[in-house]
Amino acid sequence: MTQASSKPGSVSIGRYDDLRQKERVVLDIDGTSVGVYFIGDEIRAWHNTCPHSGGPVCQGKTVPRTLQGVEEGTGKSLGLTLDHSRRMIVCPWHGFEFDLLTGIHAIDERTRLRPVPVALVDGDVVLTLG
Ligand code: FES
Repeated sequence: MTQASSKPGSVSIGRYDDLRQKERVVLDIDGTSVGVYFIGDEIRAWHNTCPHSGGPVCQGKTVPRTLQGVEEGTGKSLGLTLDHSRRMIVCPWHGFEFDLLTGIHAIDERTRLRPVPVALVDGDVVLTLG
């Protein structure tokens, strides 16, 4: 995320120091639903419309990335493990999972959340809607 000056179509959603206490806020801005996520020092904003069938993806829970280990040679399952270095947003309609930081689907990188540009402006979190 970058520091930026105000642009046409931009809207402040509040102070960064207050908002970062939450992992997520979902807002309606002039009829556009947006999910804004705070993870470490990173901020991401995604349109709250799932690329699968239009579900409210940003209202889904966030979970660590789940991995299925497979034994080389035999293909035998080694069970599930969790990758706590990555957070996934789980769409509440059909369970598609998207990387919280990149918006990319867990296994199909062509399927992605639609980003909303976000910046810090004088300590405010500012979204730019086109
Ligand atoms: S609408 Fe999101 S997974 Fe189907």
